[in-house]
Amino acid sequence: MTVPYWVAGTPATGPTLLDVRDPVDGRLVATTSLATPSDVEAAITGAVGARAETAELPAFARAAALTHVSTRIAERGEELARLITAENGKPIRWARVEVARAASTFRWAAEEARRWAGDLQRLDTDPGSAGRVALVRRVPRGPVLGITPFNFPLNLVAHKVAPAIAVGAPFVLKPAPATPLSALVLGEILAETDLPAGSWSILPTTNEVAAELVADPRLPVVSFTGSAPVGWRIRDAVPRKHVVLELGGNAAAVICPDHTDLAQAATRIATFAMYSAGQSCIAVQRVFVPRAHYDEFVRILVAEVEKLSVGEDVGPLIDTAAADRVQRWVAGAVDAGAVARTGNRRDGNTFAPTVLTDVPHTAAVYREEAFGPVVTVDPFDSLDDAFAAVNDSRFGLQTGLFTRDLDIAFRAHARLEVGAVIVGDVPSYRADQMPYGGVKDSGTGREGVRSAMHDLTDDRVLVLTGVPL
Ligand code: SIN
Repeated sequence: MTVPYWVAGTPATGPTLLDVRDPVDGRLVATTSLATPSDVEAAITGAVGARAETAELPAFARAAALTHVSTRIAERGEELARLITAENGKPIRWARVEVARAASTFRWAAEEARRWAGDLQRLDTDPGSAGRVALVRRVPRGPVLGITPFNFPLNLVAHKVAPAIAVGAPFVLKPAPATPLSALVLGEILAETDLPAGSWSILPTTNEVAAELVADPRLPVVSFTGSAPVGWRIRDAVPRKHVVLELGGNAAAVICPDHTDLAQAATRIATFAMYSAGQSCIAVQRVFVPRAHYDEFVRILVAEVEKLSVGEDVGPLIDTAAADRVQRWVAGAVDAGAVARTGNRRDGNTFAPTVLTDVPHTAAVYREEAFGPVVTVDPFDSLDDAFAAVNDSRFGLQTGLFTRDLDIAFRAHARLEVGAVIVGDVPSYRADQMPYGGVKDSGTGREGVRSAMHDLTDDRVLVLTGVPL
């Protein structure tokens, strides 16, 4: 059976089939189809037509729809987790975590929809404005185009869909071609709600059709999660649109001199450098350790990484091209003098978890986003040097800081050019309600339910005159 896509709330199938294959062994998971040009047009006109009705939905109706989605994701949790594992390859325990996070993202959106109000600003601060107040409400900028990547096929879709529903904005979602199936199940769940039919569509498309959607003036907001080159091309293509970009990173973890529990840091770093085979924008990629603790830390980290089991803890790369690239980048670093302390082996699309030391900072595996199960470790002589090394990157998403020293935490927060500093843990920590996004090449705008709601809306002011204050 061909899995349908969703056009203005209705299931549909096109003639061009899209096979979804398990990255582990290439077996066919399911077949869906690419949205036809007429279905793409129907999705856009549906979104435009539903704009007023969706914006006027009362808060209780938005919250009810979001609560329903959250509940149903939890009820269908095991099915969804198995689907994520099948289409993305991530081990089932990480797929279960992703499902729980997606349920939480929708639950948070339901709560925020109830709280989403405006501000009252007094204007009687100057004689000419006596008796005036401004009511500031945030109104949807318009239908949203969401474009999502393969690495979190359900929760990163949730981060586009849930805030749009919460503010009353119609949306057209384009899931990653490699992993559209979880998003299409989300469509089944959305179809059980009372949301206006035109207000939502989920369309697998080619990148060419995605470019047409980006260019279409009827979709004034583009929210993209994916690679930096594609993201910035989108932004340059449509400078007049509101574009939100959640892009890559080469996230760092700094072990500060006061943090002597090297085993704890190594366990967390091993896990979160390699989870999702490193295919997360905030996977640990670069680690900085005080020189005095360096040798011992590398030894413990290698031991922790070697405990990880392929299949249970670490999955494959998404496809052969991704595995080829990671292998090439590691080989390039080793040719330039890096030492592979463990890993650096390939089996199909799986690349063994790899720890590299002595990596030249010009190597791609250090400078670019590795998006693979590879971590580099460097010694440092002072925290100033460590912070400078963290900032010596074109990316700036999140940094993890292993310390209990409040002074260091505040200094890092002031100095590090990133979207978040995580004290006491890896940079990979993300709670779905917190603002999430980066600076520099890591993007613009923020996810995290409330921050995304802000990004999808504009201030609209109502000035009232003659108000007794
Ligand atoms: C990402 O890769 O950008 C998302 C990471 C996460 O949500 O944990």
